Amino acid sequence: MVRETRLTPADLTYPLFLHHGTDSRLAIASMPNQYRYSVDLLPGLVRDLCSRGINSVLLFGLPAAKDAMGSESYATNGIVQQGIKAIKNAVPEMLVITDVCLCQYTDSGHCGLVNSQGQILNDETLEVLQLIALSHADAGADVVAPSGMMDNMVGAIRTVLDSNNFKEVAILSYAVKYASAFYGPFRQAAEGAPQFGDRRSYQMDPANRREAFREIDLDLEQGADMIMIKPALAYLDVLREARSSFPEIPLAAYNVSGEYAMITAAIERGWLCEVDVVLEILIGIKRAGADQIVTYHARHIAEYL
Ligand code: PBG
Repeated sequence: MVRETRLTPADLTYPLFLHHGTDSRLAIASMPNQYRYSVDLLPGLVRDLCSRGINSVLLFGLPAAKDAMGSESYATNGIVQQGIKAIKNAVPEMLVITDVCLCQYTDSGHCGLVNSQGQILNDETLEVLQLIALSHADAGADVVAPSGMMDNMVGAIRTVLDSNNFKEVAILSYAVKYASAFYGPFRQAAEGAPQFGDRRSYQMDPANRREAFREIDLDLEQGADMIMIKPALAYLDVLREARSSFPEIPLAAYNVSGEYAMITAAIERGWLCEVDVVLEILIGIKRAGADQIVTYHARHIAEYL
């Protein structure tokens, strides 16, 4: 009766990794019970998610080939574009959020285009992000989620969506994305590790808190509808403060791959009790201020909610 925070399956967004092929479900070694799926398996999968009360998914794609421009990222028949259509055909009410970034698609593995000195070309990258967002909207995405931490990415995407009659497509900005070691398992899953250097020139320094609010301000000014903070667990203070500073803005937190991997590893060893520990973590993220939690635990834990 006096419980202050309640968690429901609708609070959870399930990330999905898509790859080419048919009838193909590939286990991700560093993330037990998570898979890469071929597009033909999506209708069954999203019907199952729907029956568990999960009503949003976040899509990542593994292209057939990588190149300097990351050209499959904006291809009409790219892997994510196919996935959006398959999901929307099967379960129209499933909210489809797409990750808008280049790192899975570029041969450099960076979130932006790079020059011959290995520097990120911020403004040139914005043009590619516009193409990606447009192709996702065209395929039927409800929400696009730019995750590359390029300056002005939200404004660039909002402009191109509005001028192409996609005014209703929302933007969930990864405004506060730290250069985190907790992304390791994801980079294996999505084959998006940088081939040289690191992401510290565009992702945030884990030591910085004030900078997060500058990032949020800038993205809201540019038209972001929702803000993501990522990772979750080591940044709950930032999440809490964002909740207090922006009470009217929908906030999402990404409970990332490394957070999932460490909990799952301890559960596999019998050191932690699965359901209890996962529920405690997720309620903690919600209590800290998240409206929505992106988590690999979503599918399984929804049964217990
Ligand atoms: C792409 C992207 C990453 C994640 C989400 N989008 C990886 C990265 O920035 O290296 C990480 C998600 C996770 O670890 O679960 N920019």
